[in-house]
Amino acid sequence: QEDQFKNVISHAKEYGYVFQSSEIYDGLSAVYDYAQNGVELKKNLREYWWKAMVQMHDNIVGLDAAIFMHPTTWKASGHVDAFNDPLIDNKDSKKRYRADVLIEDYVAKYDDKIDKEVAKASKRFGDSFDKEQFLATNPRVIEYKEKGAAILARMGKSLENEDLADVKALIEELGIACPLSGSKNWTDVKQFNLMFGTKLGASAEHATDLYLRPETAQGIFVNFLNVQKTGRMKIPFGIAQTGKAFRNEIVARQFIFRQREFEQMEMQFFVRPGTQKEWYETWKESRLKWHLSLGLGMDNYRFHDHDKLAHYADAAADIEFKFPFGFKELEGIHSRTDFDLKAHQEYSGKKIQYFDNEINENYIPYVVETSVGLDRLFLAVFSNSLQEEELEDGTSRTVLKLPSVVAPVKAAILPLVKKDGLPEIAKDIFDQLKFDFNVAYDEKDAIGRRYRRQDANGTPFCIAVDYETKDDNMVTIRHRDTMEQKRVAIADLRSIIDAEVNM
Ligand code: GAP
Repeated sequence: QEDQFKNVISHAKEYGYVFQSSEIYDGLSAVYDYAQNGVELKKNLREYWWKAMVQMHDNIVGLDAAIFMHPTTWKASGHVDAFNDPLIDNKDSKKRYRADVLIEDYVAKYDDKIDKEVAKASKRFGDSFDKEQFLATNPRVIEYKEKGAAILARMGKSLENEDLADVKALIEELGIACPLSGSKNWTDVKQFNLMFGTKLGASAEHATDLYLRPETAQGIFVNFLNVQKTGRMKIPFGIAQTGKAFRNEIVARQFIFRQREFEQMEMQFFVRPGTQKEWYETWKESRLKWHLSLGLGMDNYRFHDHDKLAHYADAAADIEFKFPFGFKELEGIHSRTDFDLKAHQEYSGKKIQYFDNEINENYIPYVVETSVGLDRLFLAVFSNSLQEEELEDGTSRTVLKLPSVVAPVKAAILPLVKKDGLPEIAKDIFDQLKFDFNVAYDEKDAIGRRYRRQDANGTPFCIAVDYETKDDNMVTIRHRDTMEQKRVAIADLRSIIDAEVNM
């Protein structure tokens, strides 16, 4: 698993998808740049989302609110007071950790032990092994599960009650050591706000403290009335937005999974109070379907319903994806009640109400939110697509089987040789296709090597121009996944590619 993840990271770099930010200065931790291919994949994923959410719904409209917002926004939203991580420092290594993550990692060891018991039993019982039954009845498994659950329950309760002394006591009781130094010499646990601060204004005296937004959602909430009125929107309706968000994450590992600067794609769906539960279920289902439409396979997804809810929610679930380091949150679906609009009404002193003429009532709408991280979606698609394939002739190839609709380059046009007029024909094909698709031209190296390069690059089609093309105006089109080659007319290329890559 670890090796697979390392391959993903190095492939992303080697093929111009993702680079460490400011790499020539040794990089900036948990900040990444998207390169020539990455920027295309990211753009295509964003468009794929936008099309499904905005274009396909006559009651959802888009928005692009500024990253900077009036500082009171974050007071109203609860982020100034409640958007915290509990941190603990190790006195010997001087390293800082998230206290909850230290405890969760400790509990994860019980899961590893359970996995080992399962593996052992499965070996012993062979075909007759019933995993479900074993998990439900084996005393050791039950003990591990109960221990883990008890620890997490105690931690959850202490965090909820702001009893940080008990979180520290728990770390000490469990004997958790600093992963770096092995030392158990811990400081007290302190809350640490995740928002980045900055200043607006020319002089230090008159500067206003601002935050870089930690979620795009608040830009939607504060524009609720503007959009509703000017768009003459009737409830239920949604506002969708994609854009950067910033969090001063302390546990910054796992590549682009957890970054300090990342992009969210969020949609707030405004509904009549009392109908939120129904809409919450509808959006949960609809969002899972959308993920499945990318073709990565049902086995890679699961729901995780939250017991512990954020300060604004009355129900919440994650769509988790099987990343190379295990199942982790990809998207959140939250029933946010009227928490945000109500708070903005209170803090701004402006009435934020909707008149529902079907029931002749004024109310503050309830909100169901869908929120997916674009970078996490990128990692899900990219890591799942990277495959090492054994071929029939005994060799192997590296192939990036990206869904064609989001692949950065749709087709590469390859003249068999660099002479005899073949490059001219290939460039002519390039010029014909470039209006509709992002295409590439490649004439360097033997054709076999160029095919391999495009496979690893994730390009669904290769189009080879050879000597016969001069006579019959036909080319060989090769598909990345099947490696099947077909002779087709140049005039048909557009529709052949379009049939596979069109969103
Ligand atoms: N408006 C609701 C909200 O922001 P969230 O669960 O905190 O909810 C939503 O974030 C999504 O944003 C997550 O499911 C994840 O995909 C993405 N996300 C959150 N923090 C991230 C980070 N540090 N790096 C990359 N993506 C992140």
